[in-house]
Amino acid sequence: MPLETHYTSYDDWAWLYNQSEAQLALQGLLPLLEKLLLPSLPEHGQILDLCCGTGQVAQQLTLKGYQVTGVDSSEKMLHYARENISQGTFILEDVRSFKSSPTFDAAICTDSSLNHMMSLEELKQVFCNVYAALKEKGLFLFDLGLENRYRNITVSDGELQEKYAWIVGETYNPEDKTGTFTITVFQPTSQKSDPKIAIAATLIQRLKCLVYNRALRQLQPSILLQLINKDWKPSAIKFSVKPYTIAEVQAALTEVGFTQVGIYDFRGKVTAPTNTQYAYFMARKPGDGLWQSRIDSLIPHN
Ligand SMILES: C[S@@+](CC[C@H](N)C(=O)[O-])C[C@H]1O[C@@H](n2cnc3c(N)ncnc32)[C@H](O)[C@@H]1O
Repeated sequence: MPLETHYTSYDDWAWLYNQSEAQLALQGLLPLLEKLLLPSLPEHGQILDLCCGTGQVAQQLTLKGYQVTGVDSSEKMLHYARENISQGTFILEDVRSFKSSPTFDAAICTDSSLNHMMSLEELKQVFCNVYAALKEKGLFLFDLGLENRYRNITVSDGELQEKYAWIVGETYNPEDKTGTFTITVFQPTSQKSDPKIAIAATLIQRLKCLVYNRALRQLQPSILLQLINKDWKPSAIKFSVKPYTIAEVQAALTEVGFTQVGIYDFRGKVTAPTNTQYAYFMARKPGDGLWQSRIDSLIPHN
């Protein structure tokens, strides 16, 4: 895939993702990995972290003794990943074109990263690439936002800090089943020159941060718009997303050759394919020696 088709939209969000969303995503994910995936892996096993972002998941897995290779197409996200975990291996590559020999005991792809695959064909291409990169009996665990995850909400979340604030707004078009989410980041344009005014402004800002982040964020996130200083400048970053149905994902995994497809909720419990907003999928590459002929039949040869 030529470089210009690499997915680089996260470059502008990388600094903020590194210090906010990455930590949030990690909190729920670690117990799930510990429950579903890690007990089946060999000690010091090799894990492929697709769409690894700023590397916080890879960092935790490395601390547990696994050898992690992260792949992401955003140079800026990888910059933070390399800073966060000096002994990791990180590859700048688009997961739709990433190729590897069967090296890995497991592959993961977390925090709805695969919702950035804007067609079922692209999603299937990623599944093929993962399949080829896994050893026999290797496991693939990933999460996806499903159709009732995406809505039209002007402000669905936000955070207020001393030197910045951000809000997320979402749109969803049920006809073509695509959505967007827009992160708007607000930052100060100038500093208060009078030290007394600056101290007072900082104290007020700290109080606002406390009240918003601890209470109002959950209850009514859009109130943030009223708390942001008028002289803070907004800049917006927009991402496209596409949800898939559980049936579509199951069928695509099976077509590629994966077996034992399990569907789980965020607690790692087997989930029914109704009314859920997110699902975790775990599938296994078979160990019957037939996988090479399956890959040969799926990947077009010139
Ligand atoms: C929501 S972040 C998730 C990061 C990380 N997995 C985590 O759990 O914190 C999505 C990541 O997917 C990456 N990404 C999206 N599409 C990609 C593609 N086609 N190839 C490689 N990386 C991609 C973005 O650059 C971004 O770093």
